Amino acid sequence: MTIDVENRVTQDHTDLAELWTDFVDWTGRLEKEGPFLLQHLHRRHDIFDACLGDGVDSVYLLQHGFSVVSNERDLAFQKKAIENGIKCGVHLHIVAYDWRNLHQYHPKCQFDAILCLGNSLTYLFNAKERESVIKNFLNLLKPGGMLIVDARNYSYILKNKEQIMQGTAPVTHQKTVYCGKNVIARPVIIENSLVVMQYHHKETNLGGYLSFYPFKEGELPALLQRHFTSVKTYSDFQEGDDVNAGFFQYVCVK
Ligand SMILES: C[S@@+](CC[C@H](N)C(=O)[O-])C[C@H]1O[C@@H](n2cnc3c(N)ncnc32)[C@H](O)[C@@H]1O
Repeated sequence: MTIDVENRVTQDHTDLAELWTDFVDWTGRLEKEGPFLLQHLHRRHDIFDACLGDGVDSVYLLQHGFSVVSNERDLAFQKKAIENGIKCGVHLHIVAYDWRNLHQYHPKCQFDAILCLGNSLTYLFNAKERESVIKNFLNLLKPGGMLIVDARNYSYILKNKEQIMQGTAPVTHQKTVYCGKNVIARPVIIENSLVVMQYHHKETNLGGYLSFYPFKEGELPALLQRHFTSVKTYSDFQEGDDVNAGFFQYVCVK
């Protein structure tokens, strides 16, 4: 097994991009996430989807009348999102920026909201980089603008690592973000500063690995609170902090 700890875009993600839509399961994902986004993005029209992935959130928002700039630097995911957009009859406006350099590309462009969903911020392993990416997002927002960011419940994963690795505890209790039944995602490494997930599609046999930085308890909300006026925590889209949540969502206002 070769694992690129930082998921660099030079790594070929063709197989992962191919299985991602079955991993997400758009219907399952949008059942809770869709109304959550509409509720929070109400009256916010110009959206920057910082990590397009297979297109699930951008396509949904375009279908609901928002103006969306969709960022995806990985060509395999871009291709998959374009295919999905065509199937859904929407045209995606795609850009390909590294969040770490966003200030160079979009100095004047301002958005009402930024989405960074699907456990994406945890692709960054360096604390200074995470801090400067959050600042870059903040600078892209209009006054009063909103960042919605999520992450897996890594506190639960780190606390239960033995049982999860042995297969006696699930990596997540309920599937609310990655909802597909045909793709098995299981951690093959759980360490204090590295979680590696293996993905395997039961029907196509496609698979791959992704590496993540596991946020410690309170670390991500503390980072967000340093930069945003208000930060509200949701657990699998319900307001509050549930220790057994699969994912936490943070709704941050500039
Ligand atoms: C797990 S995918 C999630 C995609 C999608 N939002 C979802 O929910 O399915 C992670 C995304 O983060 C993006 N990403 C990771 N690090 C990035 C960086 N430094 N700059 C820009 N995009 C990055 C990847 O290109 C990929 O689109």
